[in-house]
Amino acid sequence: MLTHSDHFPGLSTDPKVYADNGWTIRHYATATSTNLLAANLPAWTAVRADMQTSGRGRFQRRWVSDQGGLWLSAVLPVNPASVRVLPLTVGLAVCDTLRVLGVNELRMRWPNDVMVDNRKLAGLLVDQFTPGLAVAGIGINISNRPATADASLKNHTIRLADVLSAPPDISKLTNAVLSHLRQVVTELNRAGFDSQLTRINALWGAARGVELDLDGQPRRGLFAGIDQNGRLLLRDGSGAQSAFAAHHVRHLRELS
Ligand code: BTN
Repeated sequence: MLTHSDHFPGLSTDPKVYADNGWTIRHYATATSTNLLAANLPAWTAVRADMQTSGRGRFQRRWVSDQGGLWLSAVLPVNPASVRVLPLTVGLAVCDTLRVLGVNELRMRWPNDVMVDNRKLAGLLVDQFTPGLAVAGIGINISNRPATADASLKNHTIRLADVLSAPPDISKLTNAVLSHLRQVVTELNRAGFDSQLTRINALWGAARGVELDLDGQPRRGLFAGIDQNGRLLLRDGSGAQSAFAAHHVRHLRELS
């Protein structure tokens, strides 16, 4: 007999379903990847899992998703013109949420790593499975232990438990992230990306040298923020600027 899980890849348990602030939230104990579970859901639905067995990062990398972190995917309505910049808007929502919680020294590493100092606190992965809708996957380390699952993450990751005196309740954090996300995505669809550009360009922190991996070709320069299309601006020694879209940059390494 076919079970529910046979119809919905990634589904391993029945979810608890509840509503908050205009969102319908489906909360699973375990999932393969919440982005995959969200693929066929309507706008303003979110999927959360306590752990993911096949958490996905950018460029098909694995994302460690052990118990104690927030693994969340939100289905968002998006105009074709805004799909490319949506990951940056999602980053703005996550930073706004974390700032309200009292996380200081927060910055973004282009295009959408949320950092404290030189360690990664959160990662974002936007997928599009259906025209007009995007799935924004958000992973935030809270009190999970990523370096126990993958020793190579030691010294590269940080958790809310490391920077706050008391880590937030995951359900409350979920609702707060979704509330900020709804605000900024509604603004993006109504007023366009230009209305958010200054706020997003304030998230990168101090100017620093970077090396881009352009599908195997290294390119160095000074990171100079983003343009109105969300492309990274790289300034060379002569002051000339070149723009790079996120799908052309496999990796960004910070040099300073
Ligand atoms: C990255 O930094 O490479 C992106 C990481 C995105 C992780 C989140 S966790 C919730 C959602 N489900 C996934 O499989 N990935 C995203």
